[in-house]
Amino acid sequence: MILEVNDIYTSYGLSQILFGISINIEQGECVALLGRNGVGKTTTLRSIMGLTAPKQGSVVYKGNNITGQATFRVAKLGVGYVPEERRIFPDLSVRENLETGRKPAANGSGQNWTIERVHEIFPILEGLSERKGGHLSGGEQQMLTVGRTLMGNPDLLLLDEPSEGLAPLVVRDLAEQISRLKNEGMTILLCEQNAKFATDLSDRAYILEKGQVRFGGTIDELQENEEIRDQYLGL
Ligand SMILES: Nc1ncnc2c1ncn2[C@@H]1O[C@H](COP(=O)(O)OP(=O)(O)OP(=O)(O)O)[C@@H](O)[C@H]1O
Ligand SMILES: [Mg+2]
Repeated sequence: MILEVNDIYTSYGLSQILFGISINIEQGECVALLGRNGVGKTTTLRSIMGLTAPKQGSVVYKGNNITGQATFRVAKLGVGYVPEERRIFPDLSVRENLETGRKPAANGSGQNWTIERVHEIFPILEGLSERKGGHLSGGEQQMLTVGRTLMGNPDLLLLDEPSEGLAPLVVRDLAEQISRLKNEGMTILLCEQNAKFATDLSDRAYILEKGQVRFGGTIDELQENEEIRDQYLGL
């Protein structure tokens, strides 16, 4: 298991958001974290990254207990986080933005991402190399943030709603690109409200509601479970 989240409880001040979330991911899997608005998807990722430390429970990454560790340490161990808001540098070019993500791989990792390799996943970025980050479309910015995170040689990629706000054609491109990444062996935790997009790419899914896991299983099991899809995804 590359990541194990064991029964975590997380709050923002007095407002309790997660009530005993447990999820796990095997090396090479793409796992979807689904659920409607405000169910705790982002809070789960923030808990993993040490941005909001869980009050109870544990997060274990490659056998290391990383519960509540400083975010930079978690990143250094090989967890790449692409937050919901795309934090690119508007005044830097696409190439420079990618360069800012460059980090050595965590010990023992075989990854070595280069700008050329990022271009193989996101061909559109190559032609935009000299363009300022602030002059990109939403889809291009999303590709750039993922590309920049890859430059840090992660072993596990946490993606928070990558499809949000993108036009259907762009979402289709993004799906193809993420699937390319998966085929290269990347392990991905994909948070999405867009269940169709996420389940098409994933091996397994968890569904959250009110800070709890209501379903965990393979995509086939989810497809067969009309009641769950109805109740929590509105599909
Ligand atoms: N910094 C914060 N302080 C207090 N409450 C917060 C904070 N961030 C989020 N919340 C609340 O926590 C709950 C869960 O939010 P979270 O962002 O984890 O949900 P989400 O599943 O990612 O939703 P979305 O689909 O809208 O991104 C929401 O009720 C939200 O209002
Ligand atoms: Mg969110």
